[in-house]
Amino acid sequence: MNRIFSGIQPTGNLHLGNYLGAIRNWVGLQHDYDCIFCIVDLHAITLPQDPAGLRASTREVAAAYIAAGVDPDHCTIFNQSTVAGHSQLAWVLGCLTPLGWLNRMTQFKEKAGKQKDMAGLGLYSYPVLMAADILLYKATHVPVGEDQKQHLELARDIAGAFNRAYGVEYFPLPEPQILGTATRVMSLRDGTKKMSKSDPSDYSRINMTDDAETVALKIRRAKTDPLPLPDSVEGLADRPEAENLLDIYAALASIDRDAAIAEFAGAQFSGFKEKLADLAVSVLGPIGAEMKRLVAAPDHVDAILARGAERANAVAAPHLAEIYEMVGMLRPQ
Ligand code: TYM
Repeated sequence: MNRIFSGIQPTGNLHLGNYLGAIRNWVGLQHDYDCIFCIVDLHAITLPQDPAGLRASTREVAAAYIAAGVDPDHCTIFNQSTVAGHSQLAWVLGCLTPLGWLNRMTQFKEKAGKQKDMAGLGLYSYPVLMAADILLYKATHVPVGEDQKQHLELARDIAGAFNRAYGVEYFPLPEPQILGTATRVMSLRDGTKKMSKSDPSDYSRINMTDDAETVALKIRRAKTDPLPLPDSVEGLADRPEAENLLDIYAALASIDRDAAIAEFAGAQFSGFKEKLADLAVSVLGPIGAEMKRLVAAPDHVDAILARGAERANAVAAPHLAEIYEMVGMLRPQ
């Protein structure tokens, strides 16, 4: 059976983009693949984190997976730092990754800001750790949002570099799965910017734990233009906010973009926003409530993570032993 690996950083403010771009797709794929879903806490510390906040966010992301319908009896759910193989393989792969490949990564440029020399080495080598996450399990498929595409291309290049260096077809080249109509959910304040956990304005995103009133308020306040909704795809040209809200509607309603356009052709934003808010609340409300319930009594989540770590280690350890053997690490008996 083909294997899926994917993950989310526990950096707070899980939002609608994380849900529609990633988690919801995982739920749909979980019975067709052997699935490993990670909470990538080692990636989170590439930028400063408050230790207690990081632990709380790690549980919250696990709770989001479970509340959204990822079945922990069927899938492996764990946090990255519980499996040492991620860091160990990242080192091996880092030794095969030319700096030139990393210099092309746009996300580093965005996150490092203006003072590149002050950015941490971990932030720079972030995509190598991500490649290690996937390759440690020899995953064949990686369901993610659009923004991870470049990192996944690099993961494929790194897998190829390892295979060439050791003259074996050891790692499969992992396939990105960028699925649905909301692969890049944009900010509610600016349709040209990605919805993100780190945007200082909470009005830019819908958090998975927002209550119904907050969701409705954020959608009501979402930026729009003065025209009515278009009656064709061509009518979306240069209207990024209209495009984003229609795509969110389509994704939440599980219909395609054309059907969403047809439903609201010529309508005013006010009426459309009411329908969108009702839909968003009906989808996210029960998930957010379940997340809060799980986080309030974390023993259940912790037990799932502990079991997940064991299962993940059972897959990872033999792979790492094979890799060390190929690379030439002596294992004195
Ligand atoms: P992260 O934590 O930024 O995002 C988690 C997932 O959510 C998707 N996503 C979005 N999708 C649509 N619209 C958006 N606005 C939006 N924002 C985020 C992301 O594409 C992602 O699928 N590097 C990864 C975490 C990672 C990983 C991995 C993923 C580490 N190792 C191995 C897959 C495989 C990240 O920072 O995701």
